[in-house]
Amino acid sequence: MIDKFATATICHDLSGPDGVRLEPQQQAPLAPGQMRVRLKAAALNFPDLLMTYGKYQFKPELPFILGMEAVGIVEETTDPAGPYKVGDAVLYKNKTGAFATYATVEATQIEPMPKHLTYAEAAAFSVTFLTAYVSLIERGRLKAGETLLVLGAGGGVGQATVALGKALGATVIAAASSADKLRIAKESGADHLINYHDVSFPERVQEITNGRGADVILDPVGGTFFEQSLDCIAWAGRLLVAGFAGGEFGVLKANLPIEKGCSVIGVRAGEFGRRDPVAGARVSIGLRKFAEAENLRPIIGKAWPLAHISDALRAMERRDATGKQIILIDD
Ligand SMILES: NC(=O)c1ccc[n+]([C@@H]2O[C@H](COP(=O)([O-])OP(=O)(O)OC[C@H]3O[C@@H](n4cnc5c(N)ncnc54)[C@H](OP(=O)(O)O)[C@@H]3O)[C@@H](O)[C@H]2O)c1
Repeated sequence: MIDKFATATICHDLSGPDGVRLEPQQQAPLAPGQMRVRLKAAALNFPDLLMTYGKYQFKPELPFILGMEAVGIVEETTDPAGPYKVGDAVLYKNKTGAFATYATVEATQIEPMPKHLTYAEAAAFSVTFLTAYVSLIERGRLKAGETLLVLGAGGGVGQATVALGKALGATVIAAASSADKLRIAKESGADHLINYHDVSFPERVQEITNGRGADVILDPVGGTFFEQSLDCIAWAGRLLVAGFAGGEFGVLKANLPIEKGCSVIGVRAGEFGRRDPVAGARVSIGLRKFAEAENLRPIIGKAWPLAHISDALRAMERRDATGKQIILIDD
């Protein structure tokens, strides 16, 4: 029996986490081609926080249901002969809509749940591992034997990039601001750890690489972290700009890419597949196969109930989140 009165975390204004509230939501009948998924768990991503302030590049119309990724069970379908059946466990991937008890979806918004993950891990897999995969393979062309430096290595994107980089055969240097965050990076396979709260990371990278620098650098932090990355990049290196979790854009001195013969490359993982669906399908299939073969998984730092979504967002904003924060919806 389907619960017609679902609940969802609605973003009502652009005041940040305070503007997000859990509310009842009546389910509309399904349109042809649609399915209803009962969500079991969802995961936070930094763009959720940015969306609550209207600072993300995608700006949904108010009010909207927050949340980009979740895992759940197909509970109702209008197409019983279609690829998904009632009872199937699926990943929900979208820009919004994941922090709710139900999602109404079309087949393009879901994928079968990876078999090697728990429900909690599956909820937290899609966004960060896709970002890591597009970054390292499609944009950074990371090769086995190269040195990869990951900044913010104990956050969501950072942890996924450490795990993927190690599985691709790189020597991975993980840099983060606390011992707890570095523990997660170590657990994900990092070879070297740098606490940049205590030491200058460019100097340590130069020491570790005997003055050669890192071939590929993943920067989800921005600001001075981006600028300092150019002090420790190798000749012909690739600096992957993935985000600005620190709140500031870095400033590029254009002489440095000339001196280092390096590239500064922007990454936009979701848009990568939307602009080029063939490449998107290649990435999606490649990531799934590689993740299952290499046992790649997110590390869950903390689980919150759906009603505490604002607290989870505030923890992320305070820089307190370690690994992935998940939301338990129906367990
Ligand atoms: N390009 C893409 O396709 C794509 C996709 C997804 C996410 N992103 C972006 O990637 C970035 C990271 O996202 P995420 O979901 O991994 O977030 P996250 O789990 O919160 O990790 C962000 C990390 O940034 C560091 N940081 C530095 N200053 C911070 C501050 N003032 N507030 C919060 N964190 C700070 C923190 O590490 P330390 O404390 O160790 O410095 C933190 O662990 C965001 O900018 C997000 O928008 C980009």
